[in-house]
Amino acid sequence: MVDMFVLVGFSLLLGARVLSTKAPPPAPPSWPVAFSVKFQEEARNGTATTSRNDGAWYYDWSQISARFDHLNNQNNWICQGRGLNVTAPHGDCQVLFSQDADMFVIYPGQKQCCRACGPAEGCTVPVPNWLAESKFIGNETINGTGCMGWEKAGTHGQTTADRWYQTAKGKPCQYWESVTSDNVTYVHTLTFNQTTFHIGQPDASVFAVPDYCDRYSKCPNPWPH
Ligand SMILES: *[C@@H]1O[C@H](CO)[C@@H](O)[C@H](O)[C@H]1NC(C)=O
Ligand SMILES: *[C@@H]1O[C@H](CO)[C@@H](O)[C@H](O)[C@H]1NC(C)=O
Ligand SMILES: *[C@@H]1O[C@H](CO)[C@@H](O)[C@H](O)[C@H]1NC(C)=O
Ligand SMILES: *[C@@H]1O[C@H](CO)[C@@H](O)[C@H](O)[C@H]1NC(C)=O
Ligand SMILES: *[C@@H]1O[C@H](CO)[C@@H](O)[C@H](O)[C@H]1NC(C)=O
Ligand SMILES: *[C@@H]1O[C@H](CO)[C@@H](O)[C@H](O)[C@H]1NC(C)=O
Repeated sequence: MVDMFVLVGFSLLLGARVLSTKAPPPAPPSWPVAFSVKFQEEARNGTATTSRNDGAWYYDWSQISARFDHLNNQNNWICQGRGLNVTAPHGDCQVLFSQDADMFVIYPGQKQCCRACGPAEGCTVPVPNWLAESKFIGNETINGTGCMGWEKAGTHGQTTADRWYQTAKGKPCQYWESVTSDNVTYVHTLTFNQTTFHIGQPDASVFAVPDYCDRYSKCPNPWPH
């Protein structure tokens, strides 16, 4: 009995000491003001991988501009279903926030484009510190790289979540989001190719609205529907 008390007392004491010296969780990171990076995108419906494609992000908060490219074989929920007259709906698609703040869906290979929404409909470029209220969820190895993760409830409430993983040196590892509906958790990930990560302003041409876009006419099916 005595031994047991000593043992338990010792481990309690040890536990208390570990607890009191435990470092606070690392503060959520902020995105660089401007950067670009390529990625592999994947969507899963709970059991199966439903799409897999390449893509790229171009981001410049100083111009409040961004372009999210979902390349061939994409099944992106913003690109799909806008009612564009495209022969290949899963072909290369760009979601462009132009400098004047409207959001366009563009199929460059098919020269099709429409205005999906604007700030009035809640379509805005993510702020660099969008993770400000997020919670540290620990470290994880992603595609062979040690990464730190943060999570916050998604923009659509409790059935959605967003996660962001990056290295201790600030290189993006993965963006992760999930939506649970009818007991099925749909997970969508962008796994970044770190050798393509560049801090700094992308070329201005990246954010130019193509001349075949009608800036003033909405998509046949605007976003959000
Ligand atoms: C997920 O996708 C697989 C393969 O396409 C399909 O068999 C399965 O029914 C899907 N599950 C759900 C919940 O949609
Ligand atoms: C859609 O595109 C095809 C091929 O370019 C064209 O023949 C057709 O008229 C277009 N339809 C509409 C509604 O614009
Ligand atoms: C997570 O990784 C960071 C950076 O490598 C490291 O400083 C920290 O101690 C790790 N935290 C845990 C809980 O492993
Ligand atoms: C979800 O799962 C719960 C618990 O297993 C079950 O009671 C409920 O009927 C399921 N809902 C749907 C929409 O499948
Ligand atoms: C990552 O980027 C490098 C440099 O552009 C390229 O050589 C490599 O193939 C890319 N890897 C993937 C998985 O796309
Ligand atoms: C992840 O790692 C594998 C194996 O090294 C590689 O083939 C793949 O391209 C990597 N993915 C990314 C997005 O870097």
